[in-house]
Formats: sequence, structure tokens, C-alpha cells
Amino acid sequence: MTQTNEKNCPLSGVCNVAGTLPQCTTDCSPYISVTRRYKASQLPKDYTTTFMSNSPVRATQEAIYATLDTYIKSFSMDGVRIKNVYLMSESPGTGKTTTASALLNEYIRRRFMYYVKRKEEVPQELALFLDMTEWQNRYNMATMSKDEDKLDGIAKDIERYSEVEFLVIDDIGLRTATEAFRGYVHTIINARTTNSLPIVFTSNVPITELRNVFDDRLYDRVRDQCIELPFDGQSKRGRR
Ligand SMILES: Nc1ncnc2c1ncn2[C@@H]1O[C@H](COP(=O)(O)OP(=O)(O)OP(=O)(O)O)[C@@H](O)[C@H]1O
Ligand SMILES: [Mg+2]
Repeated sequence: MTQTNEKNCPLSGVCNVAGTLPQCTTDCSPYISVTRRYKASQLPKDYTTTFMSNSPVRATQEAIYATLDTYIKSFSMDGVRIKNVYLMSESPGTGKTTTASALLNEYIRRRFMYYVKRKEEVPQELALFLDMTEWQNRYNMATMSKDEDKLDGIAKDIERYSEVEFLVIDDIGLRTATEAFRGYVHTIINARTTNSLPIVFTSNVPITELRNVFDDRLYDRVRDQCIELPFDGQSKRGRR
């Protein structure tokens, strides 16, 4: 007997034929298309099934999740600017990356349906996850080895991160970044704020420290349209 696919499908909550055969299988074309957008997002594997509803962080960060439950509604609203979000805690392991990933996962499925309902073409990339430490390492390797292809890859990344609808920047610290690397991050953030494209940041430093990393103008623009959410508590890492 053919298995239905509603348990694996991120669209099942909004699909009229979820759990019904013959439509609800792994051959369903919206399922295939949305899955492709998830694969393209570069979200780390550990977080691919985390949504706002099942996030393990919800129970201990209720107030933050109440705010974000309202925020995610803006993903499918017309004429509403989607704000930036700054998830911050000085102590590690409080659930920032988990929450940022849940927001990215919600964005893809909600935005996908938004375009489908409007009968518009869905962009190939809807959201990207930028792991700052990993990208900085890749950049360092490329410059050290002067490898043309790798440097070309970094240039293409800058373009993608600047243009994609929704971007998560995981761990914006930048304490160890070179002047040149900061310049690239500046370029990405500047392009996005100019075009009103949202960024979800996670960070171990208060947002005011970004003033020391970027110029005042960029800092003001990021902060102007930003929901700042401090995560409290001690590390929950390894408790799951
Ligand atoms: N509030 C919480 N309740 C339950 N589990 C949590 C909570 N916060 C984090 N966790 C668990 O701890 C682990 C680390 O969480 P996560 O990576 O989201 O933390 P983080 O704040 O991004 O940490 P870091 O500052 O080191 O980047 C995950 O497995 C996550 O599920
Ligand atoms: Mg993190």
C-alpha cells in the first residue's frame, strides 16, 4: 500500500489533500518544489525539522515565542515590511540558533504558499542560512590559497546573501574578523537594508556592539526596523 506523505511535508498544515491518496505522496509536485527550497537554504541538518510549533525552546522562552508567533504572520502579508530580528544572549546554548532556524523554516513554507495562492512564480531561493564562522573560515582559506575558484565562490555568496528574500546570519560576533571580511559583511547588510530585505541575527553580543563593527549609518538602519529579543537562562545544550 502507498504511504501518504503528510508527516514529512512542511505544507501539510495548509494543504486540503494532506493524507489523501492519490495526491499525498513523495511525487506531489508542490512537495518536491518546497523541498528543493529547503535544500537550497544551507540550514544545518540538525535544524531542518524545527518549526515554531515544535521548537524545544518554546517552553522556556514563552514571551519571545509569543512575539515571534505574531512576527511570522508578516511573512504572508501584503504590503507589510518584514522586520529584522536580533536574538541575543551572552551565555551560549540558550536556543538562539534553534529559534532562528525555526523562523527560516516557517518563512520558506509560508512564503511558498503565499506565491502559490497568488499564482505567481516561486523564486528558486526563498531563504538562506549564513553560518558566519563557517563562511569566515571558507573566506580565510580562499584568500590564503589564492584559489580563483574559491574566491569566485565567495563573490557569488556575497551576491546570494545580498539578494535572497530572507537571511539568517548565525553568530554575527565578528570579533576576529579582518577589515576586508567585515567589508563584505557590511556590503551584504547594506544591500539588504537598502532594499528592505529582512535579516535574523543571532549573537552573543548586545546589538549596540554592532556600532563598533559597522558605521553609524548602517547600525541605525539595521536597528530602525529590528525586533530585539534577549534570551535569558543558562545553557540548555545537551539536555534534549
Ligand atoms: N530554552 C531551551 N529549551 C530546551 N532546549 C534548548 C533551549 N535552548 C537550547 N536548547 C537546546 O540546546 C542546544 C543548543 O541550542 P542552540 O544551538 O539553539 O543555542 P544557541 O543559543 O544558538 O547557542 P550558541 O550561543 O552557542 O550559538 C539545542 O540542542 C537546543 O535544542
Ligand atoms: Mg547558536
